[in-house]
Amino acid sequence: MVVIRGATTIPCDEKQEIQKAVKELLEQIESCNLLKKEEIVSIVFSSTSDIHSYYPAKAAREAGFGSCSLFSSMEPEIDGGLGLCIRVMLFVEKDMMPRHVYLRGAKVLRRDITSVYNVAIDGPAGSGKSTVARRLAADYNILYLDTGAMYRACAVKALEAKVNLEDETAIVDLMRSVKLDVEYENGIQKTLLDGENVSEKIRLPHVSMAASIVSKHPSVRMHMAEKQREIARKMSCVLDGRDIGTFVLPDADFKFYLTARPEVRAKRRYDELVAKGHEVDFEALKADILRRDIQDSTRAIAPLKQAEDAVLIDTSDMTVEEVVTLIKQKMQEKI
Ligand code: DC
Repeated sequence: MVVIRGATTIPCDEKQEIQKAVKELLEQIESCNLLKKEEIVSIVFSSTSDIHSYYPAKAAREAGFGSCSLFSSMEPEIDGGLGLCIRVMLFVEKDMMPRHVYLRGAKVLRRDITSVYNVAIDGPAGSGKSTVARRLAADYNILYLDTGAMYRACAVKALEAKVNLEDETAIVDLMRSVKLDVEYENGIQKTLLDGENVSEKIRLPHVSMAASIVSKHPSVRMHMAEKQREIARKMSCVLDGRDIGTFVLPDADFKFYLTARPEVRAKRRYDELVAKGHEVDFEALKADILRRDIQDSTRAIAPLKQAEDAVLIDTSDMTVEEVVTLIKQKMQEKI
């Protein structure tokens, strides 16, 4: 059972205003939590004592929310409290992270729970980060930002321009000269380099190693981290990478560190590449992953590392479903 909270205000104490405000509030809660009416068990309203003309519970029934139990009550007067305000609590039978909705003037009541939130998921290659991050973002209806794709795009550009991957100055100059964009189509991230869609190219095995090399340069990281922070400031998102919880967003609201045994991680990558029609040597792929692990976790700036306040999850023997459920549970416990 999950509780979703919300509130709104009305301009004056009139029946139509209450009907309009309650309908708007419930419909917004319903749409941004992707709720079905049958998942709502009960709705409880309370309104400030300056509201007499109508019961919010009746307005809820008229707005089509009559199949659950409804209740309205009146709050005592509080000095300096917000006037003409209707609060609501929805009890919902669903495994989800609630998105609370505060409309009109009521936003000032709960700045803490109406603001943007970020979920950081770090870990080595093949730990399951991207699959889990994509699922979480879809379930919560927020953005998924694949930060590895940005380093991979940088590597593609460097390989195409035949720039020495170890040459930090040349790589950064190159990055400054290209337009790197991430766009979303039906919730799927597209990575664009000077307008060219490189989403497929960046997944090739030789690009993985090149990405790991270019990502060790401090100025490349600063450039990427700034881009990532800019996106995370503007909207709620799930970000996956190596340094999100430790460097990009050290104050992220929720932090997870996923890991798995090397054989399991290599097998996942192998299956992914084979499914895409690539010919892959399993042992070579596993050796590559282990080399990348060392490279990513021993670099001087923002290495792959579990943040002290991140929840550690070993996904070796877990299904995607189990990992997603566990993460949601941990998030619920924190709010
Ligand atoms: O997650 P991935 O396999 O797509 O990442 C490719 C490489 O990019 C990885 O080996 C290290 C680097 N990377 C990084 O340094 N920091 C991030 N936040 C994401 C990726």
